[in-house]
Amino acid sequence: MTSKIVVVGSINRDIVVSTGRMPVLGETIQGEGIEYFSGGKGANQAVGAARLGAESKLIGAVGDDFFGQGTLRELEQSGVSTQCVETIAGTSTGVANIYRTSGDNCIVVIPGANGMCTPELVARYEHEIEQADILLTQLEIPMETVYRALSLAKQSGVTTVLNPAPAQELPEALLQLVDYITPNETEFAALSGYALDTEAQLEQAMLEWKTRYNIQVIVTLGEKGCAYLQSGRMECIPGINVQVADTTGAGDCFNGALSFGLAQGWELERCLRFAVRASALSVTKLGAQEGMPTYDEVLSYL
Ligand code: RIB
Ligand code: NA
Repeated sequence: MTSKIVVVGSINRDIVVSTGRMPVLGETIQGEGIEYFSGGKGANQAVGAARLGAESKLIGAVGDDFFGQGTLRELEQSGVSTQCVETIAGTSTGVANIYRTSGDNCIVVIPGANGMCTPELVARYEHEIEQADILLTQLEIPMETVYRALSLAKQSGVTTVLNPAPAQELPEALLQLVDYITPNETEFAALSGYALDTEAQLEQAMLEWKTRYNIQVIVTLGEKGCAYLQSGRMECIPGINVQVADTTGAGDCFNGALSFGLAQGWELERCLRFAVRASALSVTKLGAQEGMPTYDEVLSYL
């Protein structure tokens, strides 16, 4: 069965600078290397779904610069349809400046054309959204656009998945349009306003959201896997130990894989086990989209 997944979201060029340590303000240091990757949460999630075999379409915007065209070519090579990506004249493509040290990353994102991914742009592709099995979106494009995408999907009875990253306050009316929401722990704490220091607090907050918005809350827990609700209680899918090269895009791979599973009609637990495995594989290579696995790679890893 083909899964039709429409992703409405951001497209970035990720510029990854590796450095032994972070400079302090006013200081110049020598770094160790630079690499350019195709990135952006929307594009990454579309690639995640495409690698697994979904028919994956991206709706978004790039600038009319050197990065824009190259990034679109790479997305097509990864199996993502970019026919609904518009090139905005006089604008730069979104860029994520990623500073990578052995310990952790620091990222500065310049939205560029992603800020011009308007509700009107998305509405031009209403017919694509209508035909989707899953509409998947994130928060690196304007909130009005996310809202419009979700409303168009719900009008046609399409299942919606919102990855609320980067975390921002969400209007109640928007949450009513979401079937599955996939924050990580930090994002869920910011969104719900609860301290989530214990498992009991996490379960409580998830149950409250489920009741209040009639939404399925899935909280990703990094290398610890993810948590979801089943018959009124919290269940966890354990993570998998791998050699980590780069965790950038792990959450994106999870969302692409979850959407793939949902589009196949799998029950939630199966989708989540699959998504946890896919995202574990994705962190074994440098670059957000590089390690995203195919369906067979996930299966042979099970
Ligand atoms: O989720 C990872 C992505 O977030 C990166 O590819 C980068 O573009 C940032 O926006
Ligand atoms: Na990777």
